Amino acid sequence: MKKIIIANWKMKLDYKSSLALAKQVLASVKKSQKIKSEVVICPDYLSITPLAKIFHSSPVKLGAQDSAMTDRGAFTGEVSAADLSALGVKYVIVGHSERREHLHENSSIINAKIKTSLTYNLTPIVCVGEKLMEKKSGEARKYLSKELNRALRGVKIKSAADLIIAYEPIWAISSSSSARAMSAMEAEEIQKFLKGRAARILHKNLRVIYGGSVNSKNAGEFLQQKNIDGLLVGAASINNTEFMSICSQ
Ligand code: PGA
Repeated sequence: MKKIIIANWKMKLDYKSSLALAKQVLASVKKSQKIKSEVVICPDYLSITPLAKIFHSSPVKLGAQDSAMTDRGAFTGEVSAADLSALGVKYVIVGHSERREHLHENSSIINAKIKTSLTYNLTPIVCVGEKLMEKKSGEARKYLSKELNRALRGVKIKSAADLIIAYEPIWAISSSSSARAMSAMEAEEIQKFLKGRAARILHKNLRVIYGGSVNSKNAGEFLQQKNIDGLLVGAASINNTEFMSICSQ
């Protein structure tokens, strides 16, 4: 399978800037001879409809930053996986640490979101990651194992391409006060561990990608690792030159 580079624009751009950046990304991807990875853009909800038109039948794929945990119904403020899928969205980020922290998403919500996304043929990008506290106390693997077990409980997939695990150590995400990227070697060890855990649970050799302070200077090292199947990029993805430089490695 190709490596995959996923841009998580979070809520960093206004509507106009999202549209402008999407057009720049598409033009650059079409022009580039160097990009071998699959490129996915996850904008905010408001920009998804116009971006679905911009990226339609193009090499750039569309992802959402979240989706509802249930089917259609009385869920004020939610957006259904069915509608995202009908619009042409292919991927959905589930369980990002910012949603776990600020919106109190717990593992049963995350588990339900994964199952609902799969029902509508969206590929969930399931985020797991330890806090600095767990890293320092040497509990990171135990913690990650628990997060993975809970998120994937009762989940069934047909092929390895149906679900992606994103390893994002919370202390490495650029918005955290302690932010610094993990070394590629250190990430490789944990990715290998997560691959093994996920294979035990889902009986498939899933893609496991890395996220946390990735930029054009360190992306190459991460992508050279055997067990790093791609990158989830936040801050560095909202600048086209920087993002294209990451995608070209
Ligand atoms: P960052 O964000 O690249 O800005 O660290 C990654 C993420 O939160 O997905």
